[in-house]
Amino acid sequence: MTDAPRKILVTSALPYANGSIHLGHMLEHIQTDIWVRFQKMRGEHCIYVCADDAHGTAIMLKAEETGITPEEQIARVQAEHERDFHGFLIRYDHYHSTHSPENRALSEQVYTLNRDAGYIIEKEITQLYDPVKGMFLADRFVRGTCPKCGAEDQFGDNCEVCSATYTPAELIKPYSTISGATPEERQTTQLFFDLPRFEGMLRQWLDSDALQPSVANKLREWVDAGLQPWDISREAPYFGFEIPGWPGKYFYVWLDAPIGYMASFRHYCDKHGLDFDEYWREGSTTELHHFIGKDIVNFHGLFWPAMLEGAGLRKPTALHVHGFVTVNGAKMSKSRGTFIKASTYLEHLDPEYLRYYFAAKLGKGVDDFDLNLEDFVLRVNADLVGKVVNIASRTGNFVHKFGGRLPAQLDNEALVRDVQAAAPRIAALYEAREFGKAIRDIMMLADQANQYINDQAPWKLAKEDGNEAKVLAVCASALNVFRLLVLYLKPVMPALAEKTEAFLRIAPLRWEDADTLLRDHDIERFSAMISRVDNKQVEAMLAASKDTTAAAEPVKATASKKAAKAPASAPAPASDTISIDDFLRVKLRVARIVKAAHVEGADKLLQLTLDLGDETRNVFAGIKAKYAPEDIEGRLTVVVANLAPRKMKFGMSEGMVLAAGPGGEDIFLLSPDSGAQPGMEVR
Ligand code: MSP
Ligand code: ZN
Repeated sequence: MTDAPRKILVTSALPYANGSIHLGHMLEHIQTDIWVRFQKMRGEHCIYVCADDAHGTAIMLKAEETGITPEEQIARVQAEHERDFHGFLIRYDHYHSTHSPENRALSEQVYTLNRDAGYIIEKEITQLYDPVKGMFLADRFVRGTCPKCGAEDQFGDNCEVCSATYTPAELIKPYSTISGATPEERQTTQLFFDLPRFEGMLRQWLDSDALQPSVANKLREWVDAGLQPWDISREAPYFGFEIPGWPGKYFYVWLDAPIGYMASFRHYCDKHGLDFDEYWREGSTTELHHFIGKDIVNFHGLFWPAMLEGAGLRKPTALHVHGFVTVNGAKMSKSRGTFIKASTYLEHLDPEYLRYYFAAKLGKGVDDFDLNLEDFVLRVNADLVGKVVNIASRTGNFVHKFGGRLPAQLDNEALVRDVQAAAPRIAALYEAREFGKAIRDIMMLADQANQYINDQAPWKLAKEDGNEAKVLAVCASALNVFRLLVLYLKPVMPALAEKTEAFLRIAPLRWEDADTLLRDHDIERFSAMISRVDNKQVEAMLAASKDTTAAAEPVKATASKKAAKAPASAPAPASDTISIDDFLRVKLRVARIVKAAHVEGADKLLQLTLDLGDETRNVFAGIKAKYAPEDIEGRLTVVVANLAPRKMKFGMSEGMVLAAGPGGEDIFLLSPDSGAQPGMEVR
């Protein structure tokens, strides 16, 4: 390459630190990784960074629920995320956390620059407050009856039944999903980023070619509807960074999350002696590319460029937005077993199969992506096994048989030249993120090569004496094509490329190697490079997904509608065994029943007020058939103390009382006092 290499910084969206990586995330990271590997093969100076998005209420509550600190929670999850991504051959130059010193410093800096430029305003607002939990409630932690259609148990900001949008204050009979309490309205001062002042700049940005047309259109609709100041502060308790000059107020997670891209890169720069400012200052000639999903375009397409502009920094070169993964035509679903975690996939299938299938169907658009598992199996077997590797497996052995050396003379120079000539075309497709078109091109070349091998039938030629030179020349043509095709596939299939490099005894393939051919060159004996996918593996993966995904979905708001229907007392019959780890997660504590009462309209339940030593809980227990309230007041029992609170028809249940026995009238609480004290842990 004669030009100086481009300096390119690339990111994938930062996954939340409260859930496992699933195949939806993998689409994004595979797409990004392919693009990055392509740039690196081309000799560009390309750096790929990512991080875990570690802040916010959901993560704080998740840690609380598990009984660990948020720091422990995010460390655990990050280790899991990095392992999963590594398993899919995603190679970041650095993977960081938004809960890091670099991110704190940069968030403060970006905020302060905006503040000093006059872009941060204070506003008095009314917010919902949970008097029991003692915290302000984000919209999604409030549910209630829709003010428009009357549907019960709807989210704080929109109704799933009639699609109305509203503020949580408009809900009829609102309740906190954290404690079940009725929220109070409270006045607070919050900090806002003055987004409307950036309207002119944003309109220009939307007209630039930084965005896909459909994304720009969507964002333009939002701008046309009128930009609003953006609330960037949250009250304690919150897991995040405190705002300079505002004790007890924290940056909203979405303020410091994109700055996490900078923080991860900052860490990389410090380690490798790169000039951070060269990449971020206004007017930088380096490139900045963000790969994201369509659900977060407002943050990246409006708030983020405005914040950067407000701080006097450069804006992204481009956002590359992808659609959502569906499995077999439907949203990923736990009950169908199609909510597939990255780790579950890796237990059953080769990561390169998915990389290939994603690449084969990806374009530069934002359409949703259907992972059709039947098509996946057919495609991988037909293309990778049946077309590409087939070229080597049908010719490699003859080379070995006749001395192991490729001759200078190729039997079909024209074919090899054709394949070489495709390099610029395929490169342009990779650059434009038209991976599907690149793959189609590559497979057509593979078809030509296979046709040629069929026509020559080296296995027939080899049977007759005197054909050695001809057989070698045919095989050398085929293997040169194979080398080129693997080179073109290398951004997608890095492991296949590595095996091929070993087989052909060549240095790691770079894009410019498409200009050269292998002549007079010794190679290794061919050994199998890839195996066919079997439907059984896919079935096993789906079966495993049914079992393992229960804990996989990010905890958004807890207390789901489904959970509300389950009775609070009798433990559900276990159909399966649980591990000791599962058991150890259950926190059992002794509680005193300080009050027991009938529940109006419930024929099985008693409402219990439990003293756990340091706190009081409200629990509904299905023990009415056996115990009258006065029988059990003052007695001790054992409760599951870390069960997520559940909204029941009669109120919030904050734990589960353990009883033994077959049920009905034969259920037993603990026997009378035995020296146990409320609050004691039981194991
Ligand atoms: N933490 C934020 C991103 C902050 S970036 C400064 C977030 N995290 S996420 O874990 O919910 O999603 C991370 C990325 O995965 C997003 O780009 C999102 O669009 C993508 N996907 C999540 N589920 C997806 C599918 N089912 N399909 C494709 N992409 C999906 O949002
Ligand atoms: Zn409604």
